[in-house]
Amino acid sequence: MRYSSTLVLGAMLAAGVVFARPQPAVDEQPDVGAEVEVSRTAAQQFGGALKEALQQAIKTGGPANGVAICHDQAGKIAADLGAKLDMIVGRTSLKIRNPGNAPDNWELAVLKQFEARKAQGEPAGKLEFFAVIEDDQGQKTFRYMKAIPTASLCLACHGDKLDPEVDAKLKTLYPNDTARGFKEGDLRGAFTIAKPLP
Ligand code: HEC
Repeated sequence: MRYSSTLVLGAMLAAGVVFARPQPAVDEQPDVGAEVEVSRTAAQQFGGALKEALQQAIKTGGPANGVAICHDQAGKIAADLGAKLDMIVGRTSLKIRNPGNAPDNWELAVLKQFEARKAQGEPAGKLEFFAVIEDDQGQKTFRYMKAIPTASLCLACHGDKLDPEVDAKLKTLYPNDTARGFKEGDLRGAFTIAKPLP
């Protein structure tokens, strides 16, 4: 996802809720409790729907068929869910397969923060972060990310030993694929959700 003026925020991530300029008084900070709850549910639903589609596809046509389903369905599932919830829903990673999932600066900083927190012993499945950011025009956006750990199911397409058919299919669809070589338990990436605030 692309936003204009979030560059400065990377250094400000220590606080749970951060603002670029102008710095508002504490009582002006929007209450985002509801957005956090909806985002948690959205991340769960997105992950659940993807896993279901993936498992079904692998069952009927093997992992190479799963690649096709991920290619065709991941973006659509995210767009449908986003439209339903009036939010922007997606996935991103430090090592991406689909260039359309590349992190923006805010997402990049949060992904690095997740890696650091994981290295310090936080359980990968529990890592989440949210903030309200403000752009040059004063538009505030609520943003939320939730880490996605690598499960054994994922290794068929994101591990380092891929079935030749899967490998070939991935090379055709994603010539610049970097989402390989993951081990079970690694952070594969994160769900990323945004909602412009009134
Ligand atoms: C059958 C192959 C396959 C399996 C199994 C699979 N993936 Fe993927 N994954 C893909 C493909 C293909 C894409 C690119 C989707 C797209 O074009 O948006 C992808 C993209 C992603 C992305 C988005 C970031 C990026 O790299 O573009 C994440 C995050 C992700 N997968 C996580 C997982 C996790 C976690 C699992 C296990 C639960 C998993 N995947 C299992 C094929 C697979």
